[in-house]
Amino acid sequence: MRIRSEIHVSVGTSVFLTLLSLTATVNCHSFETVYSWKEIDFNFPNDSIRQEYTASGDYIQKNNAPVGINIWRNKLFVTVPRWKKGVPANLNYIDLSQTENIEMSPALTPYPDWDTNDIHSSSSNAIVSIFRVRVDKCNRLWGLDTGIDDIVGDNNVVAPPTLIVIDLTTDKIIRRYPLKDSDQKADSFFADMVVDVEADSCDNAYAYISDLGGYGLVVYSWAENNSWRVSHNYFYFDPLQGDYNVNGINFQWTDGIFGLSLSEKQQPLGYKTLYFHAMSGITEFEVSTIILKNETTATSSNNYYDFEVAGIKGELTQGPSCVIDTETGIDYFTHVNRNGIGCWDTSVKLTPDTFHILAEDAEKLRFPNDLAIRSENRKLYVLADNFAEFLNLDISLRETNYVITAASLDTLANECKCQSY
Ligand SMILES: *[C@@H]1O[C@H](CO)[C@@H](O)[C@H](O)[C@H]1NC(C)=O
Ligand SMILES: *[C@@H]1O[C@H](CO)[C@@H](O)[C@H](O)[C@H]1NC(C)=O
Ligand SMILES: *[C@@H]1O[C@H](CO)[C@@H](O)[C@H](O)[C@H]1NC(C)=O
Repeated sequence: MRIRSEIHVSVGTSVFLTLLSLTATVNCHSFETVYSWKEIDFNFPNDSIRQEYTASGDYIQKNNAPVGINIWRNKLFVTVPRWKKGVPANLNYIDLSQTENIEMSPALTPYPDWDTNDIHSSSSNAIVSIFRVRVDKCNRLWGLDTGIDDIVGDNNVVAPPTLIVIDLTTDKIIRRYPLKDSDQKADSFFADMVVDVEADSCDNAYAYISDLGGYGLVVYSWAENNSWRVSHNYFYFDPLQGDYNVNGINFQWTDGIFGLSLSEKQQPLGYKTLYFHAMSGITEFEVSTIILKNETTATSSNNYYDFEVAGIKGELTQGPSCVIDTETGIDYFTHVNRNGIGCWDTSVKLTPDTFHILAEDAEKLRFPNDLAIRSENRKLYVLADNFAEFLNLDISLRETNYVITAASLDTLANECKCQSY
């Protein structure tokens, strides 16, 4: 990955930044640590299997960095992309009912099982490297498997980019859809997605998948089992917003469209709005799903005015994932340049004044990478990891490197003034 290799440590900048961030820190509400790890471990079937994986180099513990989370019932899904060698399982979960408030650093359990995550297994259908998973109303887990092992090393292509959908009630893969050649560019890198299911039917479902490297959006229709690629100027990065300073590491990224969030249905047309932003950008954009769901309008070269600028979030708001709490219409964002979380009530015009930074924390929210809403307890969960260090240097095993925190959505909405009325 050309964009990943440009990280370099800049000591001078780091001192300056520490001073800056001390004066700028905001903390309306502190996120509570649910889990934290120095290193990630896995629940191997038994010790002899663990030893086999370790001896063969299929398990190198320090090379495992979690990047994505999502929640369904008591399962907290955690993805561990195969950035480096030695990731034994990409898709995993933690049983919240067995561990929350009981165990601080639980081991991950591969999902649906070990074999499906084993890229050396004889069945060629292994899950290789999903970055983020999303759960829909119909108890399905969706992920885009990028198909690459040891991304920053040998960059070994094991399988083509494939959409994978799992039925959470049976733990079975119910759909595999390799993206078409026309869905991809040479630099494509599929990182995030959002799933749009109509209330009337689970078959009436679409996935919108962001391509941060090829600057595109891929729409997949479940009913048609077909996909199309959307292009737009708003999918590119902002050349003035690609400089990052995270915990003393300075790097430049050219990542385009990344974070996606979906509103409830909007009247008068009864279609949802897709909000999106580039990783290296501070502007939020929007498009109605009426445009995206229709292949003709979505792929038209005249689609420029179908997309709109939602507004500008403010300084240092670059980041990957975001999610809308559909009960309140509040959109929550991750900010890597701030080690922070922000919010915006989508019912008001987005400006730096209506956008709120609600927490910044260089330890608990260090490089916030993904967030998820658990409706059962109305909490927002955030996964933060020592990502800049992990990619370039090597994590320090003396430090806490990965943290999952949570905060009450109602507290955020009311006390942190995320809700505008
Ligand atoms: C460990 O698990 C594997 C796979 O389930 C099984 O084949 C093997 O017999 C087990 N070994 C021991 C020592 O229990
Ligand atoms: C969907 O399309 C893919 C790729 O063409 C194919 O392999 C798969 O069998 C199809 N699935 C269904 C349910 O039609
Ligand atoms: C898709 O959009 C085209 C162009 O506006 C229109 O002619 C067509 O009827 C639409 N298709 C559907 C299924 O709505």
